[in-house]
Amino acid sequence: MSKGRLISFEGLDGAGKTTQMQLLEQWLAARNIPYVRTREPGGTPLGVEIRHLLLNRPDLAITPLAEAFLFQADRAQHFTNVIIPALEAGKLVITDRCFDASIAYQGHARGVGIELVARLSVIATQGHIPNLTILLDLDSDQVRARTDTANDASGLREQQTRFDAEEEQFHRRVREAFLALARIYPDRIKVLDASRPPQQIHEQIVALVEPLLEDR
Ligand SMILES: Nc1ncnc2c1ncn2[C@@H]1O[C@H](COP(=O)(O)OP(=O)(O)O)[C@@H](O)[C@H]1O
Ligand SMILES: [Mg+2]
Repeated sequence: MSKGRLISFEGLDGAGKTTQMQLLEQWLAARNIPYVRTREPGGTPLGVEIRHLLLNRPDLAITPLAEAFLFQADRAQHFTNVIIPALEAGKLVITDRCFDASIAYQGHARGVGIELVARLSVIATQGHIPNLTILLDLDSDQVRARTDTANDASGLREQQTRFDAEEEQFHRRVREAFLALARIYPDRIKVLDASRPPQQIHEQIVALVEPLLEDR
C-alpha cells in the first residue's frame, strides 16, 4: 500500500502560500498525481465557523489562550475528519498552514508559550507531523504591501483579517519563531526566500516535493 504524505505551507500572510499552492496544484494535476488540498483553520465545516471567529470578527476580544484553543479545536476536527483518513488512504495532502503556525503565532508572538502550544498540537494532530513543511520566508516590512488588498492584482487575497491588523513587531516575532523552528527541524522545514519571483519559488518547491512522491 502506498504511504500518504503531508506537506504544509507556512509563512506570514502575504508570503505567497496561496500562490504557491495553486502552482503546485497545477503541477500535480498535469501529472495526474492525486492530492487533497486543505487548510487550517477552515478545512472542515466546523473549521469554517472557527476560522470566521478567529479571523473576521474584530469585534470579539479573544484572549491569547482562547485563540490558541480555537486553532487547536479546528485542527482536531481537521486531522480526524480530513487529514488522517486521507493519509491512511495513501493520499498526498497539501495544507495551507498547520501546527507550526500555532507555535509561531500563539506560542511565541502572542506569548502563550511554545511548549504549551506544541503539546496541544501533538494532541490535536494525534501525533501526525508533516513530511515536508515549506516555509515561505518574507521580511515583515514586505507583509503590509502584500496583504493590502488594494495592491492585490492576483485576486488571491481574501478579506483583511485580525492578524493583518497587528503591528509590524508582531509579524517580526512570528517570522523569528518560524525561522527558529526551521533551525530546530532542518530536515522537515525548508526555508524559501519568498521575495523571489513566484515561478522560481515554484521550481524550488517542485524539487522538494518530487523526492517525496518517488518513494511512495
Ligand atoms: N513571489 C512573489 N512575489 C511578489 N508577489 C507575490 C509573490 N507571491 C505572491 N505574491 C502576491 O502577494 C500577495 C499575497 O500572496 P498570497 O499567495 O495570497 O499569500 P498568502 O497566501 O501567503 O497570504 C498576492 O497579491 C500575490 O499575488
Ligand atoms: Mg493565502
